[in-house]
Amino acid sequence: MPIAEDLAVIIEETIRKQYDAGSARRDAHPKAHGCVKAEFHVLEHLPDALAKGMFVPGNTYRAWIRFSNGSSDPTRADIKRDARGMAIKILGVPGKKLLEDQDQAMTQDFIMINHPVFFATDPARYLSFMQDSNSDHFYRKLLIPFDLGAKGTRIALETRSSRISSPLQARYWSMVPYQFGIGAGRQAVKYSARACSATVEPMPHKPGHDFLRDALKNTLQIGEACMEFLIQPRTSNSMDVEDSRIEWKEAQAPFYPVATIRIPQQVFDTPEQNAFCENLSFTPWHALPDHKPLGVTNRLRKIIYAHISTVRHEMNKVNEEEPR
Ligand code: HEM
Repeated sequence: MPIAEDLAVIIEETIRKQYDAGSARRDAHPKAHGCVKAEFHVLEHLPDALAKGMFVPGNTYRAWIRFSNGSSDPTRADIKRDARGMAIKILGVPGKKLLEDQDQAMTQDFIMINHPVFFATDPARYLSFMQDSNSDHFYRKLLIPFDLGAKGTRIALETRSSRISSPLQARYWSMVPYQFGIGAGRQAVKYSARACSATVEPMPHKPGHDFLRDALKNTLQIGEACMEFLIQPRTSNSMDVEDSRIEWKEAQAPFYPVATIRIPQQVFDTPEQNAFCENLSFTPWHALPDHKPLGVTNRLRKIIYAHISTVRHEMNKVNEEEPR
């Protein structure tokens, strides 16, 4: 996919410009609120259609969850409007994985943002968007709405407009679809995660610069947190698999809970755990064939995430390996 390689090179140039060797960060979602240890319990009873791949009824997996802001600026205050990310890495998942050079990895990743759709779908226009966004010429930035079109521009603005009071209380979506199962019974699905309880804490009166890390810390210092993981099977052809800007409306296609995520009481904000978190790599392609990423956006991500992860690990002289 030549466009994916062009995009990877542009993103690599941005990272090399923004960071010195030894302190390279992710291009997207560089600011983490923390990486927390979690348990991913697949529900005891699931209909056959939802019991595919790693969703073996009653199975419990260890997991890491990285909560983040979307902005490429890792120093941005949490009160500023932004997209929020939740990346889950499930450990101990047997079976050959999709990334050819990491097919023996024991991990399955689920990557989500707190918005249901992704703003770009046409690779060539996404390339122009990246070129214009990264250009040093101001007038090139004026071209961005033309690259994305009215719909894409609106979704991009909406995605970056959220304020949340805790990473544990937002609702997250995979935005783009995934295969669920292999063979004749396979279907396309999207994922989502949300708190088990609908209670949402109010925004703090005087939000600190990193108050989302503080919110995570304060909750997990005194007790555990609970989230649920949901799957939305595609129910009609109008729910597009290639065009990531088309929302699969819940009224047309319900989300079904398939797992409970327990985040035990813990201290996560240590230098060692933060460094470990920084060095993790999430990609939709850390996946079993049963959970194969679908659609053009995910095909681009296969090449881009692998390339960018390698660049930042090389710049920081750290090994790139999947945790066990
Ligand atoms: C073609 C479209 C996309 C491009 C080019 C892109 C690019 C990137 C890159 C370069 C990274 C950093 C990878 C690393 O250094 O390891 C990243 C991370 C991330 N992306 Fe994307 N992305 C795209 C689409 C999406 C979509 C559709 C989602 C929806 C869920 C998403 C959610 C995230 C999240 C949450 C992270 C942070 C993961 C972590 O915590 O490490 N991205 N993206």
